[in-house]
Amino acid sequence: MNKFYITTPLYYVNSKPHIGHSYTNIAVDTVSRFYRMKGYDVFFMTGTDEHGEKIEKATLAQGFKAGEEKRFVDDIVPVFKELWQRLGIEYDHFIRTTNDDHIKAVQAVLDKLYKDGKIYKKIYKGWFCTPCETFWSEAQSDDGFCPDCKRRLEKLDEENYFFKISEYQQWLIDHINSNADFIKPDFRRNEVLGFLREPLQDLCISRSKARMSWGIEVPFDKNFVTYVWFDALINYISGIGYPDDVSRMNKYWPADFHIIGKDILRHHAVYWPIMLHALGLKAPRTIFAHGWWIVKGEKMSKSRGNIVDPVALIDKYGIDTYRYFLLR
Ligand code: ME8
Ligand code: MG
Repeated sequence: MNKFYITTPLYYVNSKPHIGHSYTNIAVDTVSRFYRMKGYDVFFMTGTDEHGEKIEKATLAQGFKAGEEKRFVDDIVPVFKELWQRLGIEYDHFIRTTNDDHIKAVQAVLDKLYKDGKIYKKIYKGWFCTPCETFWSEAQSDDGFCPDCKRRLEKLDEENYFFKISEYQQWLIDHINSNADFIKPDFRRNEVLGFLREPLQDLCISRSKARMSWGIEVPFDKNFVTYVWFDALINYISGIGYPDDVSRMNKYWPADFHIIGKDILRHHAVYWPIMLHALGLKAPRTIFAHGWWIVKGEKMSKSRGNIVDPVALIDKYGIDTYRYFLLR
């Protein structure tokens, strides 16, 4: 039987889901149902991204104390699960980045890359955007504002661990050019190739615990936790058994379809394939990035709070109407 492994992003649990998250999950659910109907052995995975500064800040903002992040995320995860159930989203596995097996997988990846000499330490001077959980260089920063979401950046000057992604730039360009279905739609592939015309900067993959401790501890240095994106991307393999369950990994990897929003294209189409290649694993077959639901010209966003609540719409119009409306 042919397999079909399809995924959604893992959503940050800083706040409850809005129609944008439901849009991605409805799209993935629809494609999954189509492949099941065609007789494929489908594995559909979704879940939640629970570490990092954004979640740490949301915890405090919601009246929890420092150190109570796990209690905070445990309260929000069911809100996501209930919405998916209500919408008839038939996933096979719901992964949380706070699961023990995921944490072990992330540490195994870090250990392997460190032993292979792909990770090194240096001073990081630059900027960080908390809502995007993204590092920006001086040249990329827009006078201290995020070039993506336009919000104020935080200045960082600290020692950190870096992953040598610059070594893999030419490999990635060749891979994109020789696999027409790797990044879809085509105009998004061109966007990624455009980004790769500039030299890649090595990726900062740690945060010092002294400043931000809600994360997976770096296995070779207790003073650091793993950068949340490096943690979250690994879900796509930890969720199918990496590194211990070799037979499940071999059965489902590479993923056939990562569906994401265009906001996180670079993380998926640049960092993720390079992480996999450095681990000796294949790149996913297709990364498909869709556009945004917009409110008054701005992206609908949990951290901006300009959201439309899916539950109110479902209550009013019913589930099939809602699913059809979003998809069309
Ligand atoms: O980025 N329109 O999580 P996130 C359409 N945790 N889709 C939207 C949307 C909008 N206005 N807003 C959100 C993260 N989405 C990371 C991902 S993956 C290893 C880690 C959907 O909670 C869309 O799929 O910010 C987008 O890519 C995703 O939610 C971002 O969710
Ligand atoms: Mg986001």
